[in-house]
Amino acid sequence: MPHTALPRLGFGTVGVTDPETIETALEIGYRHIDTAQWYENETIVGRGIARSSVPREELTVATKVLPDNLGAEDLKHSTEQSLDRLGLDTVDLLYVHWPTNAYDPVETLGAFDDLYDDGKLRYVGLSNFTPSLLDEAREILDAPILATQVEMHPLLPQRELVEYVQRTDIYLVAYSPLAQGKVFDEPVLGDIADKYGVSVAQVSLAWLFSHDNVAAIPKASGDHIRDNYEALSLDLNDEDIARIDAIDHQIRTVNPETEEKVDRTPWTE
Ligand SMILES: NC(=O)c1ccc[n+]([C@@H]2O[C@H](COP(=O)([O-])OP(=O)(O)OC[C@H]3O[C@@H](n4cnc5c(N)ncnc54)[C@H](OP(=O)(O)O)[C@@H]3O)[C@@H](O)[C@H]2O)c1
Repeated sequence: MPHTALPRLGFGTVGVTDPETIETALEIGYRHIDTAQWYENETIVGRGIARSSVPREELTVATKVLPDNLGAEDLKHSTEQSLDRLGLDTVDLLYVHWPTNAYDPVETLGAFDDLYDDGKLRYVGLSNFTPSLLDEAREILDAPILATQVEMHPLLPQRELVEYVQRTDIYLVAYSPLAQGKVFDEPVLGDIADKYGVSVAQVSLAWLFSHDNVAAIPKASGDHIRDNYEALSLDLNDEDIARIDAIDHQIRTVNPETEEKVDRTPWTE
């Protein structure tokens, strides 16, 4: 396991527009919250954290810097703005959201090191990085890397990156861990869910947690928030895992070429 513990289940916040949802997730037991400048809800997330009774030191709060803000000055300025919106002095995990647009490895990661030295972040995160871009970033950075974040779920198993994070002792944080709902149509997952009397969402998340060094950040509302939390108590056996591993078709739900704030993509390099 990596040098520090990252709560394996985090709460994704794309589209979350009310602090009550954040507060509910924290009261249920989530201890890792994932937002981004892009989601335009850091203020909402900060209000939810402030309203909850969970002590700050028990929380891992992650945000991500927009690709256009990755020049050194914009990075520093926009990180200060993110901290103001979140109501925090330090963010636990600050990600490069996509290594595109204003991303320049030496300039951008040098500025991450400066922010680390100034106590503005505890760990660096690198989102949507390929193994070769991760290698390059690891060479440049002095500040500690905690996680890389990519889409991962039973229909996109990311075997190369899972091997990479296990070998280098960082986490893979699986975004869109329910493939934005597409896992619900997969019959193998439905069979396993029926066998245990649980939801397909729980089976998908438990499959992610069966991998060392993998965390997941489902976004949910209403009863789904607790449903997903209960995945932490579901143990799949080797046969279940082998059946899921044998699913032979893949789906990627986040396509960088259609993300409007990203105009170049490492996936096409
Ligand atoms: N780094 C990146 O580039 C990147 C890209 C995409 C996403 N992310 C992060 O990853 C988080 C999660 O990804 P995502 O929002 O794209 O997709 P997701 O978590 O795979 O799926 C969310 C969808 O699943 C539904 N859902 C959640 N739990 C459910 C359950 N137990 N039963 C039935 N339906 C359920 C939600 O509906 P309800 O809301 O109705 O529950 C929502 O429609 C984001 O919020 C964001 O924090 C990061």
